[in-house]
Amino acid sequence: MVKKRTCIFISGQGTNLKNLISRSRDNSFPIKISLIISNNKKAYGLNYAKKYKIPHIIINSKKRNYENKILINLSKYNISFICLAGYMKIISNKLVNTYKKKIINIHPSLLPKFKGLNIYSRILKNREIKSGCTVHYVNEKLDDGCKITQKTFFINLQDNEQTLQKKTQKLEHKAFPEAIIKIFRKS
Ligand code: GRF
Repeated sequence: MVKKRTCIFISGQGTNLKNLISRSRDNSFPIKISLIISNNKKAYGLNYAKKYKIPHIIINSKKRNYENKILINLSKYNISFICLAGYMKIISNKLVNTYKKKIINIHPSLLPKFKGLNIYSRILKNREIKSGCTVHYVNEKLDDGCKITQKTFFINLQDNEQTLQKKTQKLEHKAFPEAIIKIFRKS
């Protein structure tokens, strides 16, 4: 099996990155993580890039044209698939169109509910009875593209932002690899 050369975009903790690195070491998993891009030089997730000796690039998203640097590196590393794993920047239409249907994102809510930021506090404020995570294709609109996988759990009265995050991330670590397997099983 020829694995798809994949770039993971991160900004923070990188628990999804860590999980995907571990899954991708399995020969039957469809992707090889060939590059990691972070817009945050202090992202904890970069430690996994170092530990597993995966090429990684830090981009300064405050600079104009920073996306050109991204596009140049995606091409240099022959990347054919992109996973946004806690990447806190909106990507441009140019990048979306260059990698049409080849970029997926993980989001900590049951989309189309709760797009954007501060998800857990909004979910609690809205007294939702369930929540979960969604893996979806990325299009030009925020948290909007076609759904690939969604996982759900019920919210307890005792839940707070921390417990919601913990429960959501536990599901994310199942949903992201499952979505990737689903995509490449089809193609
Ligand atoms: C995840 O909850 C993801 O849904 C959201 O950002 C978080 C990233 O977590 N987009 P991590 O960096 O993978 O730990």
